Amino acid sequence: MRAGLAIKPSVRKRSNPFPGLAVAVLVAVALLMMAPPTFAACNVERGKYLFAVAGCAGCHTDKKSKGALLAGGRKLATPFGVFYSPNITPDPGTGIGRWRDADFIRALREGIAPDGSHYFPVFPYPSYTGMTDADLTDIKAYIFTLPAIAKANKPHQVTAPFGWRFLLPIWKALYFSPGPFRPDAAKGQEWNRGAYLVNAVGHCGECHTPRDALGGKKTTMALAGTSQGPEGGLIPNITPDKQTGIGRWPDADLEELLQTGMLPDGDFVGSEMGEVVDQATSRLSGADRKAIMIYLRSLPAVNNKVESKKSKKNK
Ligand code: HEC
Ligand code: HEC
Repeated sequence: MRAGLAIKPSVRKRSNPFPGLAVAVLVAVALLMMAPPTFAACNVERGKYLFAVAGCAGCHTDKKSKGALLAGGRKLATPFGVFYSPNITPDPGTGIGRWRDADFIRALREGIAPDGSHYFPVFPYPSYTGMTDADLTDIKAYIFTLPAIAKANKPHQVTAPFGWRFLLPIWKALYFSPGPFRPDAAKGQEWNRGAYLVNAVGHCGECHTPRDALGGKKTTMALAGTSQGPEGGLIPNITPDKQTGIGRWPDADLEELLQTGMLPDGDFVGSEMGEVVDQATSRLSGADRKAIMIYLRSLPAVNNKVESKKSKKNK
């Protein structure tokens, strides 16, 4: 027995960790079974983080009129008409208080309301569709911890044909591919996390990708910038193109921008990106910020000159 162990030290080494691992697994299972409230609280914390990165509060809060958090009514003036965000507080009458998890998942994954009608893509579900069920239900769990506010929704002011809700299935057939995001097995974990954060949760392409005349994203020009942003503004090219994108930016500059909104010239991003930095990218964990940078650096460089206010001013 002794001699046997002596000549097979590797076997002995390998068999040693198992009891420890089994105990750890048992303890973990026991803790999970004993403490469901902590487990649920943990989901709310995850939901809070994802809710920030997804920027839900910005669109659903009418900050200009000092409206309550998520009670809607924020004006979104797009090239396709004026939209008002709805109330998504847990109020059962005017918000989403009666929604089940499945309703919430269907709204963000498929762009379909509980009554079966279709949402306008000004609600960025064409990006959020990539989110996993677990991430979506965690966001809902967090929203349901916030105050319920009774406030009726304001109707959109949109003109034909873009304002015709019944045409949306056609638009969706042309431009919408439902998720969730599928990781690319050929790429690393960080790249996949970055792709998920940029394309699904952070919905960077909703602003940074140019659109065609019908408002569909030009997929071959992903994140290449546009002079017709969602609210009519100029949106810079963030592909790694050296002339027209951010290909010349050192990593430290890109990191600084995501963290604080400071541009390489010492100025700060304004307008919509200021809000994105404030609500979303400044709150990213270090690992998630790095994942986003890795993903942005891996994009195909697209040469697309968007003349921005900033670059004009600095010339
Ligand atoms: C760019 C602005 C914008 C962002 C960001 C945004 N929404 Fe919305 N959302 C809208 C608009 C506009 C509508 C209404 C769409 C319509 O009427 O077709 C909407 C609709 C909804 C609805 C349907 C409400 C109802 O009463 O039917 C839900 C739920 C919702 N959003 C949740 C979210 C969540 C959760 C997030 C963050 C993950 C989010 N939204 C981010 C603009 C936005
Ligand atoms: C609501 C629209 C919107 C969204 C969403 C958005 N951006 Fe922006 N972004 C802008 C605008 C507008 C600017 C230009 C701001 C300025 O120069 O004042 C900008 C600027 C930038 C810049 C600086 C580029 C340069 O050349 O100055 C980077 C980098 C950037 N965004 C990355 C991102 C990333 C990463 C995401 C997703 C997490 C994102 N943006 C989401 C609107 C948006």
